[in-house]
Amino acid sequence: MDLIKALRERRSIKYFETGRDISDEKIRELLEISNLSPSSFNLQPWRVIVVKTPERKKVLRRCAFDQPKAEEASAVLIIIADPNAVEQNMGMMLDSWQELGYIKPEMRETYTGIAKNLYGPEDSLKRKIFATKNASLFAMSLMTAARGFGLETHPMDGFDDECIKKEFNIPDDKIIPMLIAVGYLRPGVTLLPRAFRRGIDEFVRFE
Ligand SMILES: Cc1cc2nc3c(=O)[nH]c(=O)nc-3n(C[C@H](O)[C@H](O)[C@H](O)COP(=O)(O)O)c2cc1C
Repeated sequence: MDLIKALRERRSIKYFETGRDISDEKIRELLEISNLSPSSFNLQPWRVIVVKTPERKKVLRRCAFDQPKAEEASAVLIIIADPNAVEQNMGMMLDSWQELGYIKPEMRETYTGIAKNLYGPEDSLKRKIFATKNASLFAMSLMTAARGFGLETHPMDGFDDECIKKEFNIPDDKIIPMLIAVGYLRPGVTLLPRAFRRGIDEFVRFE
């Protein structure tokens, strides 16, 4: 399926086929593709918990204000944004740039300084924005790639953050921009037409 078709076809699906598995291999493939998403300084501040077992999805549903899709989808992905990725991933990222010839060794410090300056101290709002925007790009790639594989998705931010962090052992400094339910449309369900979108002239200005 081509990309434009996948983007046009993606919908947030409420009714998933229950009891239908997606193999770990397929989910890994989906994650590998999403992992090609761009990120600030290539710092990749995302983490994912793949929730597949009936027991754990039940817990997730409880944390997600009892939204049935959190339990009925084949898998639900907890997308995590990591504000600490600047410290954690900068070394690896610079090693790669250096090895591939993007930068000379003496440029490492300059790049580290620029990133720290741009994204602020560890617990700052700037840092949270940095992590959330990049993890959200990852999430969008994932939803598009899923459609490309013939899968359906549903992003959710209707959940109790504290509940998910506690139940899934996620440190308090991390951010959960959304959950993404992944699976198949329940047979016999017909989707309503896509909901309204504003005309682009309402939000675009050309200069
Ligand atoms: C970050 C995010 C969080 C969302 N959270 C929920 C949610 O908790 N529950 C829900 O029913 N829909 C949720 N939605 C789905 C939106 O309602 C849906 O994307 C929107 O109505 C447009 O429909 P479409 O995705 O089918 O084009 C969420 C969407 C996004 C992008």
